[in-house]
This record gives sequence, C-alpha cells and structure tokens, in this order.
Amino acid sequence: MRQNTCMNRFWPLSVVGAVAMAAIASPAADDVVGLRQADMKAMAAAAKTISGMFRDPASYKAGEFKWAADTIRDRSGAVLSGHFASEAASPQSKAKPNILKERERFDRIANDLRDYAIALDAAAENNPGPMTASMRMKPGEAMGGGPLGTHVRNEQKLSAMPAEHAFHLMLQTCTTCHVRFRME
Ligand code: HEC
Repeated sequence: MRQNTCMNRFWPLSVVGAVAMAAIASPAADDVVGLRQADMKAMAAAAKTISGMFRDPASYKAGEFKWAADTIRDRSGAVLSGHFASEAASPQSKAKPNILKERERFDRIANDLRDYAIALDAAAENNPGPMTASMRMKPGEAMGGGPLGTHVRNEQKLSAMPAEHAFHLMLQTCTTCHVRFRME
C-alpha cells in the first residue's frame, strides 16, 4: 500500500502503466534503466567534484560544491527510489531483484543519501568564501562504524558534523546500497 502511494506520487499513471507493460515489451523498461543509470553517473561525477575539493581545499568554490551537492540531492531519496519502483527486466540493468523485496531498506539508504547531500548543500551555503577548517575532519575523527553506522539517526548531529565527515558517510551509503542491491 505504502509502495503504491509512493509510486503514484512520483509516476504519472500512464508511466506506471508503461513500465508495467515493459515487462513484456521492453523499450520503456530500457528508458527507466537508462534514466537511473544516467542519474547514477551524474552523482558519481558530482561526488568526484566534491572529493577533489577536499583533496585540494584551495580549489574549493562554494557555488560548484553546492551545485554538486544539489546534483546528488535531486537524484536521491524518493526520486532514486521511484526509478526502481517496478521490476524493469532489462538485460542492461545491474539492479538486483531483491530491491522489491527489501523495499524499506533500499528506500532508507536512498533517503540517507539525500540527507547527506542536503547537509553538504548547507555547508556550501554557510561557507561562501574559502573552505573553512570547520568543514574539514579533525585528525583522528572517527569515520562512523560499519554499514549500519552510516544510517542518519539524528539530523542535529548531521548538521553539526564537518562537511568532510558527512561526505565520507555519504560515499558509504553509495557502497552500502551497491553491495546489497547491485550486481557485480
Ligand atoms: C539506494 C541504492 C543506491 C544508492 C544510495 C546509490 N546507488 Fe548507484 N546504483 C544502484 C543500483 C541498483 C545500480 C544499478 C542500476 C541499473 O543498472 O539498473 C547503481 C548503479 C550505479 C552506477 C553505474 C551506472 C551505469 O551506468 O551502469 C554508478 C556509477 C553508481 N551507481 C554510482 C553511485 C554513487 C556515486 C552513489 C552515491 C553518491 C550511488 N550510486 C548511490 C543503487 C544505488
């Protein structure tokens, strides 16, 4: 039931119908697969941009950092989940079939990704000039433990954490999801 509401919110009915039919004839399934793969690639490029700025803080530009964070924000959460709303049986897809069975876990990871991207957007807002020390991780700062440790438990804690730390946890959500829901 919850799943249906979610689908209706993000998919016009005609699209849901098209995707359902695509299980038989496959162009529409390929469309949604192409779309989500393109989104994933865009997120990977954005993560690379952010990672480059942490590696070389002198290259930090708030506008570009924010744009990269927003690229991930706009492709995560319910948007990401919506692209995996039905079993698009396409040979091009590397998505595992367990996504539908483990819907809640998948959606939670997609939402965590969004929460981290929002925190990074806020960091760019708050640091319009050079990259500040407050954005960097302190030496020896714990990186958050294990796959379950990446779950966003507390928004206040998230906004208090240095952006670099949020970024590392964000990358762990990418990995956590891929390990469970993407084929090798
Ligand atoms: C909630 C789950 C989830 C999250 C979070 C997630 N991914 Fe993915 N990703 C997938 C799945 C599933 C696929 C396989 C999609 C397909 O082939 O249909 C995929 C595919 C990809 C691909 C391959 C795209 C292609 O062209 O085949 C890249 C690159 C990628 N993800 C990068 C990222 C990055 C970077 C992040 C984090 C910023 C991320 N993903 C977060 C589930 C996720």
